[in-house]
Amino acid sequence: MSPLIRKEVKKLHGYTLASYGNQTKLNQNESAYDLPLAIKKKALARLEALAWNRYPTPFCAPLCQKIADYEDCDKEAVLVSGGSNILIQAILLASSIEGKVLTVTPSFSLYDIEAALLGNRLISVPLEKEDFAFPKEKFLARLKKEKPNVVFLANPNAPTGNLFSEEDLVAVLKAAKGLVVVDEAYYPFSDFTLKSRLKQFPNLILTRTFSKAFSLGGVRLGYLLADPSIVREVQKAMLPFSVGLLSQAVGEVVLEEEGFVRSIVNEVSREREIVYQGLRQFKELKVYPSHANFLLFQTKKAKALFQKLLGQGVLIRDVSGPQLPNSLRVSIGSPSENRRFLEAISHALTA
Ligand SMILES: Cc1ncc(COP(=O)(O)O)c(C=O)c1O
Repeated sequence: MSPLIRKEVKKLHGYTLASYGNQTKLNQNESAYDLPLAIKKKALARLEALAWNRYPTPFCAPLCQKIADYEDCDKEAVLVSGGSNILIQAILLASSIEGKVLTVTPSFSLYDIEAALLGNRLISVPLEKEDFAFPKEKFLARLKKEKPNVVFLANPNAPTGNLFSEEDLVAVLKAAKGLVVVDEAYYPFSDFTLKSRLKQFPNLILTRTFSKAFSLGGVRLGYLLADPSIVREVQKAMLPFSVGLLSQAVGEVVLEEEGFVRSIVNEVSREREIVYQGLRQFKELKVYPSHANFLLFQTKKAKALFQKLLGQGVLIRDVSGPQLPNSLRVSIGSPSENRRFLEAISHALTA
């Protein structure tokens, strides 16, 4: 008798996120800055003029062109999706079913979930214990031994916030026989991208999102940059018309107003330093430097601290796990949200 549900699916816990109602919300690395009303109005005017009864242009051709202009690359090197999550799935569908996927741990949980869903064997190399540095020798050894179909590396990494060096990533690209996906969801906050290496390495895919620096978490848009021969193949694994014309139009408008994005990134970098220094005042916390829009810190009583903050209306994320004991992650919010968080943590630790 054939099973109703595949064993790979049954084994998964699936993605969950508890909801805690209205809080100072610093748990999802969203942008704290909604689009200014003038930009929303421009997008709404664009939406009003569209024919909502018609299917959108296949594979978002106009938005692809705008992204290509913004990235200074050919539009054939761009693939748009409804969030970069979808790209992770499409890349796996195109390259690795019941194959091998190599990543590091701790990292973004979706690589594991999607790889497992498609029956892949997931190989995770632990990051260095002290500072989450890239374990270059161990990683390269596993890469050469296992010959994975795909490598996933987030840079900056999540939830640790640190950046892997260009030298290490190039070493991976040189040694890999399969695809190397570098997830640059947080790159605008780090000032580092591997984009200049795309022409040199046709097995390199960069994934990007509109959910963080572009303030469009609720709109759902992402894209990848890769060699056009890879883009054409991954595109076949994406459902046609899966990005609605409303999302596409909003994405186009935001790219036309990208000055807004730069001002957010500058503010987040300033605020990240303030929160980092603020947290470092507490000797019971170990705070890690970050190149993203969040900070990771560890403390012996992480669960209790999370609850105490929640009791004061401040929601952060408990990211503790076997590879990451007693760990909390806080997104960088607006200046007033960050002050609220620092006050709340001071109260929780001293009360
Ligand atoms: C490393 C990383 N990649 C991708 C994503 C998902 O991005 P999107 O909203 O575009 O699906 C996240 C979201 O938090 C992330 O942390």
